[in-house]
Amino acid sequence: MNSNQQSNRLLILVGSPRRDGNSAALGKAALRGAEAAGTAATLLFIDDYIHGFLPDLRHARAPADRYAELFLEHFLPADGMLLCTPVYWYGMSAQAKAFFDRSFSHYAGAGPEPQRVMARMTGKRLGLAVASEETYPGAALGIVHQVQEYARYTHSDFVGYVHGAGNKRGEIARDPRQPLAAAQTLGAEFFTRKYSDYRIETPRRHNVWEAAPALSSTPGGLP
Ligand SMILES: Cc1cc2nc3c(=O)[nH]c(=O)nc-3n(C[C@H](O)[C@H](O)[C@H](O)COP(=O)(O)O)c2cc1C
Repeated sequence: MNSNQQSNRLLILVGSPRRDGNSAALGKAALRGAEAAGTAATLLFIDDYIHGFLPDLRHARAPADRYAELFLEHFLPADGMLLCTPVYWYGMSAQAKAFFDRSFSHYAGAGPEPQRVMARMTGKRLGLAVASEETYPGAALGIVHQVQEYARYTHSDFVGYVHGAGNKRGEIARDPRQPLAAAQTLGAEFFTRKYSDYRIETPRRHNVWEAAPALSSTPGGLP
């Protein structure tokens, strides 16, 4: 365990209504990995907190639900957020989308509170875990793109992505690509995984990873 992981807080949000579904399985695997690595992590189901969409704020109050608690008390203090969502019509679930939309009522407008909210929305580590029926990678690309743009907009680091297939509850465990193991690893490495996203002027070395220890000098060994 390292001290960096101890001080970081990971929020895992599940955007499916199914508590025993495939997105939840991805989230629970990530939670196991995070906890094993000593990271403080919390898993929440979005629809325990959100019961309505973003209203026209000039004419209507926000829905009477627990979104403010989810956003202000769990999301803003977190250093990282892993979104676990099913693919619904080649996009994220409405629960997951509403999580992002409803944040508008906290960061829009002038004044110290929106400023504080915007400051805390930036600079997080973000991850995505997706469950779909189709195995075709393109089925989830719309969601990947949306999270990528959210990360760019909020100066956050999109550090990892897992996609698995299943339809019946928990069936994702049978996906031979082992998305649950990948989610567990993502949870464990959430705050330590190497992240790079270059611009033309970014100073860089030629190698991405530290050189492997020198191979045995046995004559005839590989160069
Ligand atoms: C409304 C709805 C729309 C769906 N749309 C798609 C889709 O476009 N592509 C796909 O691969 N699976 C689609 N699915 C299947 C789910 O993504 C799949 O069953 C997933 O494992 C459900 O995750 P969960 O167990 O976390 O709810 C859809 C399911 C529902 C209920």
